[in-house]
Amino acid sequence: MTDLDIKRLDGAAAGDEELEAWRHVHNTIIPTHLLSLADVRERAVRNHLELAYADGVLVGNSTVRPPEGDTATATVIARVLAEHRRRGFGEQLYERALRRARELDARVIETCVLESNADGLRFALEHGFVETERYLLDGDTIPWIDLRLDEAASTGSP
Ligand SMILES: CC(C)(COP(=O)(O)OP(=O)(O)OC[C@H]1O[C@@H](n2cnc3c(N)ncnc32)[C@H](O)[C@@H]1OP(=O)(O)O)[C@@H](O)C(=O)NCCC(=O)NCCS
Repeated sequence: MTDLDIKRLDGAAAGDEELEAWRHVHNTIIPTHLLSLADVRERAVRNHLELAYADGVLVGNSTVRPPEGDTATATVIARVLAEHRRRGFGEQLYERALRRARELDARVIETCVLESNADGLRFALEHGFVETERYLLDGDTIPWIDLRLDEAASTGSP
C-alpha cells in the first residue's frame, strides 16, 4: 500500500500554497460550504490541519478540532478526493487524526459528514460512530450529520 506523505499546516506560519491546497480539497468535497483563504487561515490557527500526498499528488486533507468543553470533545475529519478513494488513504488519515486527538487528551471523539457524502457516512459508521444530530446551517441546502465515536462498541467492551 502507498504510504501517505502527510504535512501539517503550521498554524499562523502556514503559507498560501498549503492553505490553497487544503482549501481545494475541502471545497471540492464540501461544495455547499465553500471556505475562503481567510477562513482556512483562521482554521489553521485554531485547528490541527494536515495535507496528504501520495507519490507527490495531493489526495486529501484532515481536520482535528482540539478538545473543548467539560466533555473534552474533539472533532476528527478525514477527506480524500473522490478519484483517490478506496486505496486505504482515508484509513491512514483518520487513524493519524484520531491519534492526534487522543494526544490532546480528547475524551469524546466526534465527526461530521455532509448528508450527500455517502462514502463519508459509511466510513464513519463502519469506524464505530453513531449519529447524534442532523441539521442545516444558515444558507446550506444539504444537512450536516454529527456523529460520535461509540468507544464501548469500537473497543468491544460491554
Ligand atoms: C471517508 C473518506 C475519507 C474515506 O476515504 P478512502 O480513501 O476511500 O478510505 P479507505 O480507502 O481507507 O476506505 C474506504 C473503503 O475502501 C476500502 N479499501 C481500502 N483499501 C482498498 C483497496 N486497496 N482496494 C479496494 N478497496 C479498498 C475499505 O475497506 C473501505 O471499504 P468500505 O467502506 O466500502 O467498506 C472519503 O470517502 C471522504 O473523503 N468522504 C467525504 C468526507 C467525509 O465525509 N469525511 C468524514 C469521515 S471521517
